[in-house]
Amino acid sequence: MPSIRVLIVDDVRNTRESIRRILSFDSDFEVVGEAGCGSDALRLTELLKPDIVLMDISMPDIDGIKTSELLSFRAPNTSVIIMSVEKDSDHMTKAMLAGAKAYLVKPFTGNEVTSTILNVYHKEARKREIISSPSTPQPSEKDNSGKIISIFSTKGGVGKTTTAVNLAVELRKSHAFQVLLMDLNLQFGDIASFLNLVPKKTISDLVQINTIKEEDIRFHILTHSSGADVLAASTRPEYAEMVSPEHIEQILQEMKPHYDFIICDNSTRFDDISLASLEIADEIWMVVGMDIPAIKNTKLALEILYSLDYTPKIKLILNKYDRRIGIGIKEIESSLGKKINYVLPDEEQLTSVLNKGIPFVEALPRSAMAQETKKMIKYLTDTVPPVKVSSENTKGKSSGLQKILGFGR
Ligand SMILES: Nc1ncnc2c1ncn2[C@@H]1O[C@H](COP(=O)(O)OP(=O)(O)O)[C@@H](O)[C@H]1O
Ligand SMILES: [Mg+2]
Repeated sequence: MPSIRVLIVDDVRNTRESIRRILSFDSDFEVVGEAGCGSDALRLTELLKPDIVLMDISMPDIDGIKTSELLSFRAPNTSVIIMSVEKDSDHMTKAMLAGAKAYLVKPFTGNEVTSTILNVYHKEARKREIISSPSTPQPSEKDNSGKIISIFSTKGGVGKTTTAVNLAVELRKSHAFQVLLMDLNLQFGDIASFLNLVPKKTISDLVQINTIKEEDIRFHILTHSSGADVLAASTRPEYAEMVSPEHIEQILQEMKPHYDFIICDNSTRFDDISLASLEIADEIWMVVGMDIPAIKNTKLALEILYSLDYTPKIKLILNKYDRRIGIGIKEIESSLGKKINYVLPDEEQLTSVLNKGIPFVEALPRSAMAQETKKMIKYLTDTVPPVKVSSENTKGKSSGLQKILGFGR
């Protein structure tokens, strides 16, 4: 592989030097230049055409966000990675909107910077490859492996977990699909309690293993009475930190061939974990609430998702719809600039069935919510018919599915 050409942009000379030193130990990287301000960064990027620009935010002339935005037009083949001491979601959001492909919070380790560069570089190279050969569909692993649906919202309490859980249970119960629910709300995930499961083994236990293999993941999976599998979130918020975006990618890649559907429930932030699941997902389903702040934030989130080229993957679910509130669906669609795909009405009895740990598709199968969930499933099964397997629980004997599909490791 030719070296990845990197330009380092930071107004502090020591920072530039220490990054240069880190990268010099690895022949995968070649530092092609350094800039101490935004205008030099623009000039050098246009001149040197690096693969990656490592970009500080606060700089004396043009700041790193503005510079990244300008570069996204002037040097579209160069990927910007922001490096900043700011770790709030506001800065991260601005960076994403400016076209940055990743965000490193200072101080970072050598390992973090090298793995982030490699990650961004390979993803972008793959994207360019796909774009340049649109007419030759690759017989990829995608063809015979499951569909990943990542459920996201910018606000808690809008119904992500409710949607994820019921979708999974219905897919499994009524259609006998193999389904994995992954709780990526790592700190405060509640899928296990939605399903009355005791999370003895969680994703934070799983990631202690060095090279995670399918058997390890299966060992950490819980199974709901419907047959849907669950990889539960950490039992304590502080354990969530052990899980990295690379772990998420690894788990999803490892399990994709063994399930018809993997449904990821996310936190409400564009953090590296949710971004990893959004990136790898085939479908991104945004859940929107009925209040103005939720709608406004959804609009902002959509802009970020568009800028990440996820437009074709996005669907909108309006939840807790109540016509008495006085905002119409058309009005919400026009403020979001996007059609709402599914509408789940406000259901009075939901909290009481939730408190019993029963999904509404089981407790209230005739409710309008359950009917709308069936429509979602119809879309999923109509668009890319997944590989349907027998209703027999194949947990612990995945090779059965592998044999049916005719591939193995
Ligand atoms: N359509 C609905 N009607 C009534 N209550 C709902 C509806 N959808 C979700 N809820 C309730 O709202 C609360 C938050 O839902 P949840 O799925 O946990 O949201 P999130 O995962 O987005 O934080 C739960 O108590 C849930 O029962
Ligand atoms: Mg939730």
